[in-house]
Amino acid sequence: MREGAHPGRITPFPAQNLSSEATRALGRPSSDAAGRVGRKITTREPIIQEPEAFEPEATRRAADVTESARANRGWWDRNADEYQIEHGTFLGDDRFVWGPEGLDEVEAELLGPPEELKGKDVLEIGAGAAQCARWLAAQGARPVALDLSHRQLQHALRIGGSFPLVCADAAALPFADASFDLACSAYGALPFVADPAMVLREVRRVLRPGGRFVFSVTHPIRWAFPDEPGPEGLSVSNSYFDRTPYVEQDDHGRAVYVEHHRTLGDRVRDIVASGFRLVDLVEPEWPAWNTSEWGGWSPLRGNLIPGTAIFVCERD
Ligand SMILES: C[S@@+](CC[C@H](N)C(=O)[O-])C[C@H]1O[C@@H](n2cnc3c(N)ncnc32)[C@H](O)[C@@H]1O
Repeated sequence: MREGAHPGRITPFPAQNLSSEATRALGRPSSDAAGRVGRKITTREPIIQEPEAFEPEATRRAADVTESARANRGWWDRNADEYQIEHGTFLGDDRFVWGPEGLDEVEAELLGPPEELKGKDVLEIGAGAAQCARWLAAQGARPVALDLSHRQLQHALRIGGSFPLVCADAAALPFADASFDLACSAYGALPFVADPAMVLREVRRVLRPGGRFVFSVTHPIRWAFPDEPGPEGLSVSNSYFDRTPYVEQDDHGRAVYVEHHRTLGDRVRDIVASGFRLVDLVEPEWPAWNTSEWGGWSPLRGNLIPGTAIFVCERD
């Protein structure tokens, strides 16, 4: 961890450990990073990496909806190339993995039995390179992959697939009411937004009655521990109840990366207040086959504390 980084910082799955120089951002923000709601992704660009121009300072401070979205769009645009290089193999091009533990939708069936996905309209939120959407398409579903980051969606285009890619903020979904049967998100959007209830209300709006939304986030308990994969990551160092966002900022104090902490109770209240029914909360255990570390996630910690929380919600 570099000097100055917050000891309790949680790296998103499967985001690289931001405190590690080895996984620092490479690449340049897209020149057209703003105003691309609903924009069609059309170019197939090669992976290009360039050095990060600045060294952000890590802190805990307030960050509102607008600042969080702007910071994270830029961060994911700059880091998408390295992220896909580092984690693309674990994710697979067409697997649906819920988190660093490796829980696969094939076994979890949180969206329902795979054979019942055929013909379903499914929205993937914070899709990244759309690995989950690709798996859904292979089951016969009709996925739409949405992400805030244009560069992430260029990776989706590079890998391929015949389903729509939409560049938009999860807090303002560019779809009509009742457009989808299902929605899903594997660490997409929810860990990064200042107002998760706004996202949940949007997802509920675009779901049809009886629809299901399943999303995974960093398990809230992780915010009490240093984000380290080894023994140093096993001692509580922060208050679990401190909701102050984790922010990385540039020399001018502008946020360049933001993560928001919600306690387990906060998440439940957000879900219920948005009109969903919470039908399950899954805390995947670390399986014996998974010997990989992923940022602060590791077999050592995964055998002792949960790393991921998956919320299964339904709208009546
Ligand atoms: C950790 S990645 C998860 C993506 C994919 N499930 C994976 O495992 O690679 C988080 C993704 O959420 C996207 N994201 C962050 N904030 C978002 C927002 N407000 N709306 C939509 N997508 C967002 C990022 O651009 C990024 O692609």
